[in-house]
Amino acid sequence: MKTLWNQYEQAHAPGVASDPWRLRYHLMPPVGWLNDPNGLCEKDGVTHIFYQYSPLEPAGGQKGWGHYTTTDWKAFESRPIELVPDSPLDKDGVYSGSAFVKDDTIHFFYTGNIKEEGDFDYIYEGRGHYVNTFTSGDGLTFSEKRNVLKNEDYPHDLSCHVRDPKIFEENGVYYMVLGARTRNDVGQILVYRSDDLAQWSFHGRLESDAPFGYMWECPDLFELDGQKILMTCPQGVEQDGYRFENVYQNGYFLVDGALDEHTALSSFAEFDHGFDFYAPQTYLDTRGRRILIGWMGIPDAEYSNPTVANGWQHALTLPRTLWLENGRLYQFPIEEVLDLKRTEWSQKLQAGETVDVGTPCFHATLTPLTDSFHVRLREDCEIEYANGLLTFSLKQSGYGRDARHVEVGRIETLDVFSDTSSVEIFVNGGQYALTSRIYDNMELNKIVSDGPMELVVRAMDAYRVG
Ligand code: FRU
Repeated sequence: MKTLWNQYEQAHAPGVASDPWRLRYHLMPPVGWLNDPNGLCEKDGVTHIFYQYSPLEPAGGQKGWGHYTTTDWKAFESRPIELVPDSPLDKDGVYSGSAFVKDDTIHFFYTGNIKEEGDFDYIYEGRGHYVNTFTSGDGLTFSEKRNVLKNEDYPHDLSCHVRDPKIFEENGVYYMVLGARTRNDVGQILVYRSDDLAQWSFHGRLESDAPFGYMWECPDLFELDGQKILMTCPQGVEQDGYRFENVYQNGYFLVDGALDEHTALSSFAEFDHGFDFYAPQTYLDTRGRRILIGWMGIPDAEYSNPTVANGWQHALTLPRTLWLENGRLYQFPIEEVLDLKRTEWSQKLQAGETVDVGTPCFHATLTPLTDSFHVRLREDCEIEYANGLLTFSLKQSGYGRDARHVEVGRIETLDVFSDTSSVEIFVNGGQYALTSRIYDNMELNKIVSDGPMELVVRAMDAYRVG
């Protein structure tokens, strides 16, 4: 299977690369389908970015892990596919997982998906959802896969949906968080503990005060400025006004207290309000930055991506650095992304004036000079702001994506990172974010506003991918 996947990738990547929708400074699958970022880590100066990968099927199929490496976030190496569902431990998918670097070894933990033959709905029975592990010294060659947890190791009230392990170390103890769904359809996190990363025992659960969705996927537990934060992607949360507008959510809880006491979770805060954001994962780089990458896509979306016809689908977001301000998570692309700027110019944009940016690949900073505004970017991407509410909308370029809303209070600045078929918008330097795919006429790279604004525009260079 490994050989087949690698050969298929090599044969079809050149054709896929000619698609005009291919992004220039985002990571995409060389061919086929991509979803969650996996196994993010830095070892010996090399950053490893793995991702859920289904090379043969742009609409999604069997999942293994694809792999990029970089040393500077500007040039990337696409590595051979090494992790495929070729073991009885993961025969129906090498599902999402993470990396934990200890001493000189990268310890990977992931979900092995196994479907028993039969007439199952695979929610409450018929599915093995194992936690497996393997290690690596260099991130390029990997040990044998080994099982650490099986269905019978989870509490008996759990359904067959327990997955996406992530490791957190505190006071010399290792904790593993796992996304879970109970048999009563309550989303929550299971916590396992270990003293040696090899033997794991059940430790407890992280739950919201009241049930919040039926399943929590892709948990990440980390500490930022002394505050523990639990990120996760709840499924089954009802829309509530302008909150929870997507089919599945992404966001975080603040975690109060050590993990060995009764652990309280704050209320849930949404993290990215765009159409295409899910399954973010973070890691700590050697400079001490908490860096996050998300999947620029969402499962079971109601809208489509025309790239499928060209043999590929989905991408990863820009890498973002995280910090806390007043108990809220802020995010902004890392400085290496800002360094991709090729040219920069600024001007005062008068009401009604149209500026042609000349490329769909730009980073624009807009500083509105009025209390409400309506600005149009590219062909039909619109941002409207009035009475504390930001509305982001796309017309035909959304391919079914209509409008998303965020109650933001005051807007000081908007930073827009535009690529051929994506936009990532950061409000007030990272207080709010909206990420979306967009498929418009790439010749129409206008910015036009109904009120005066200060504008700084930078044309962005492409990543080098080898
Ligand atoms: C999230 C997710 C994970 C799972 C993986 C499978 O998008 O459903 O929970 O491990 O994708 O590809």
